[in-house]
Amino acid sequence: MDRQAHWDNIYTTRDPQAVIWYRPHLDVSLTLLGDLDVNLDAHILDVGGGASTLVDDLLVRGYRHVTVLDIALAALTAAQARLGDAASRATWLHADATRAELPPASVDVWHDRAVFHFLTDATDRARYVDCLHHALRVGGHAILATFAPDGPTMCSGLTVVRYAPEELAAVLGEEFRLSDHRRETHVTPGGGEQRFQYSVFRRES
Ligand SMILES: C[S@@+](CC[C@H](N)C(=O)[O-])C[C@H]1O[C@@H](n2cnc3c(N)ncnc32)[C@H](O)[C@@H]1O
Repeated sequence: MDRQAHWDNIYTTRDPQAVIWYRPHLDVSLTLLGDLDVNLDAHILDVGGGASTLVDDLLVRGYRHVTVLDIALAALTAAQARLGDAASRATWLHADATRAELPPASVDVWHDRAVFHFLTDATDRARYVDCLHHALRVGGHAILATFAPDGPTMCSGLTVVRYAPEELAAVLGEEFRLSDHRRETHVTPGGGEQRFQYSVFRRES
């Protein structure tokens, strides 16, 4: 099954609130984003946002330019249905983050929770980083949440790559400065625990 079919199959066969990565709110992401010096006109891109509630919470806080990108159309459809009329206040992009054609320097905050760690192929990782370089303006920030070194080795039937913040910094390259990081123990809807790390990078050049 290809990548898109895999994720579409999950979102068409499971309740979005029962998937293992579900949280009612992405609290750590919201805190890290709130700590950034960005105003309500910032262009925020949630890469692989799926059906998560981050977009809801950002719209409630008054952010005016929120885009959710996901490879699974079914995930975007579920998020839009949940939001109802408010869905029209966000932008929805059905795309693969390793191949997305985004306008240059158009993003102020790139957010990714539990997406990059699925890229086990070096070419895919390089393509993802190319997209990030292309779309994130200098002075903008990337928040990347992945499984930590003591996190699971698999998720959703797929192998993942686990990262420490310094390892992610090495992947992104010298244009990015690690400005913050923290850990989270995610309690899954089934009661299991998954250790995440969240890293914040500022694009310096
Ligand atoms: C584990 S879920 C995380 C969803 C959301 N970020 C959250 O924290 O609740 C991974 C998400 O990434 C999406 N995804 C996986 N690979 C992707 C890719 N190459 N490009 C865009 N989205 C992708 C999946 O469809 C899914 O919605």
